[in-house]
Amino acid sequence: MKFFVDTAEIDAIRELNDLGMVDGVTTNPSLILKSGRDILEVTKEICDLVSGPVSAEVIATEADVMIAEGRKLAAIAPNIAVKVPLTWDGLKACKVLTGEGHMVNVTLCFSANQALLAAKAGATFISPFIGRLDDINIDGMDLIADIRTIYDNYGFETQILAASIRTVNHVLESARIGADVMTAPPSVIKAMASHPLTDKGLDTFLKDAAKAGIRIL
Ligand code: G3P
Repeated sequence: MKFFVDTAEIDAIRELNDLGMVDGVTTNPSLILKSGRDILEVTKEICDLVSGPVSAEVIATEADVMIAEGRKLAAIAPNIAVKVPLTWDGLKACKVLTGEGHMVNVTLCFSANQALLAAKAGATFISPFIGRLDDINIDGMDLIADIRTIYDNYGFETQILAASIRTVNHVLESARIGADVMTAPPSVIKAMASHPLTDKGLDTFLKDAAKAGIRIL
């Protein structure tokens, strides 16, 4: 499973990247706002840091303007994946931009039918939003499973990018189902290292090491 980090915070990306945890980065207008940075500037910096796909999202709603924005974003670096929303215009933009050889991430996917359309339009990535479905009491994991089944039924090559991941269990379930990629905030990726039994066991070992007078350095 590929790990994308869902943030526009350079320091957080760098820390995870140094550990080999970053196969790509996803951003959106809300994450750009949070970073307080200019979109073109911060996106370029991320692309210089990370060799995998870096998603940068258009803000237009009409296909022709999305395409123009997508071309400008794609010109930042060869590893840009242009992010377009899953609307009819977004699908049109996806078709044109992928036809020009750009990676396209179709975002804000909330149904398997939407994912089917994105695959037909040649999307490189489809981003089903798990957490936002959970927010309205719909199991986001069912959507990931349905898309996996449908894509496998027909051999679609669009990669399932599990998004809006809020918990470590979202990561685990996405991996079980076989999502190709997951994107999560740095805090969720770091939380995957934690287990109360690890903490408890370490505490015991450290106490026993002190009792035994163990010194290594
Ligand atoms: O990758 C999409 C993600 O940024 C949305 O997450 O938590 O705002 O629903 P969230």
